[in-house]
Amino acid sequence: MIIKNIGLLVGIQPEDTLRVEGAAQGRTGTVENAWLQIEDGRIAAFGPMATCPLSEAKAPAGARPGPGESDAPVNMVDARGGMLMPGFCDSHTHVVYAGSRDSEFLDKINGLSYEEIAARGGGILNSSDLLRQTSEEALYEQSIVRVREMMDKGTVALEIKSGYGLSPEAELKMLRVIRRIGKTVPAAVRSTYLGAHAVGRGYTHEEYVQMVIDLIPQAAEMADFVDVFCDDGFFTVEDTNRILSAAKGKLVPKIHANELAVSGGVQVGVKHGALSVDHLERTTDAEMDALRGSSTMPTMLPGSSFFLGLPYGRAKDYIHAGLGVALASDYNPGSSPSGDMRFVMAQGCIKMRLTPVEAFNAVTLNSAYAMGLSREYGSIAIGKKAAFILTEPGWNLTKLAYQYQTPYIQQVIF
Ligand code: NIG
Ligand code: FE
Repeated sequence: MIIKNIGLLVGIQPEDTLRVEGAAQGRTGTVENAWLQIEDGRIAAFGPMATCPLSEAKAPAGARPGPGESDAPVNMVDARGGMLMPGFCDSHTHVVYAGSRDSEFLDKINGLSYEEIAARGGGILNSSDLLRQTSEEALYEQSIVRVREMMDKGTVALEIKSGYGLSPEAELKMLRVIRRIGKTVPAAVRSTYLGAHAVGRGYTHEEYVQMVIDLIPQAAEMADFVDVFCDDGFFTVEDTNRILSAAKGKLVPKIHANELAVSGGVQVGVKHGALSVDHLERTTDAEMDALRGSSTMPTMLPGSSFFLGLPYGRAKDYIHAGLGVALASDYNPGSSPSGDMRFVMAQGCIKMRLTPVEAFNAVTLNSAYAMGLSREYGSIAIGKKAAFILTEPGWNLTKLAYQYQTPYIQQVIF
C-alpha cells in the first residue's frame, strides 16, 4: 500500500531514537507533499512526491511492475493533502472498569475533594464493588466500548491497568479482560498489574500488601508491568519498595506518584528501574534530580489535573532540565473520564506551555517509550508499525492543539 499526496508527513525520527529528551523533545522530522509505503503492516519507505514509486505520472493504473518489483497489486491511497502522523500512544489508562461514578461527579461539583470522596467509601472502592458485581463478560463488553472510542480518536497503542479488583479473583479477572481486549483490537495493548491501587475491603493494610505480593507470580503470567499507587493515604514508599522487590525480574514497574502529595514515589520508582513514574502533579527539583540519567520516563496526566482541579505537572521545567516528558490520558471513572489524546496534547500546550511539537512527542514517541513500545510505535521510521492518523487537508501540529475541538480525522490506519 502506498499513501500518496500527504500534505504533511510528521513525526519522522531516526530508527534508533526510542525517546526524545530536553531540546530534542521540541524537534520532529517532516516532509511536505509526501508519500509513504507500507509493507506487511510496517513502514517500508517514504519521501517527497517527486520520488513516489508508481505515482500516476510514472505508472498509470494497470501498469506492469518493473524489474525487481513485486507483482502484488499496490493499493494506492490518496491522502488528499491531509497530514499523516503516528497514532497516539496512551501509556496510562484504567479503561477496564464497571459501571460509572457519575454520582461522585455530583459530590465533586458540590465541593468534596478526591480524598474526601474516597474516605466516604466512594472512589476506587466504589469501582471495586461495582466490578465484583459485574460478570467477566459484561466487564469486557463495557470496557471494549471505551477502547474502540479511543481508537476512533486516534489511539493506536495503550496501556491498561488492573486495580479495581482488589481481591485475588477480581484482579485476575481484570487482567484476563485486558488480555482479551488486546487479542481483539488492532491497537497494541500493554497490561499492568495495579493490585496496590487501594486496600481492598476486608483486609488490613498489612494483609492487603501481602496479598498483592502473593499474587505477583499469577499476575505476571498475564501482565507486562506492576504499578503501585504510592501516595498520601494509599501506599507508602516502604510498601512500594516491598512490592517492587517482590516483582523484580517478573514485572517492570510503572508507578503512580506525587498526585496528592510529594510522596517519594519517584525516587523509589527510579531505584527499581521503573519504565515510568506517572502523575507528578506535585514535584520539587529533587524529583527531577532523581530522574536525570535514569531510564524512567516522567509521565504527566493533564486530564486528571483538569478534572480534579489539581496543579498541572511542571512539564516545561522537566524539559528545560534536559528530561523527556510523556503525556497520557489516565482514562478512568474517578479522576479522568476521557481517553481523548488530542485533548491531552492540547492541554500540554495550553496548560503546561509545551510547544505543539513537544506535546506531540509527549503523546506519541515518549508515551510509546513509557510502555516499552517505542521500537514499534510513536514515530515515523522504516520498520515501525504502520499505525497512523490521517487528517483532513490543511492540518498541522499547531492547528491540532490550537483548534482542539474541530473534527480533523480522515482515517485512523492500522
Ligand atoms: O490515576 N490515582 C490513582 N488512580 C487513578 C484514579 C482511580 C480512580 O479514582 O478510580 C488515577 O487518577
Ligand atoms: Fe492512574
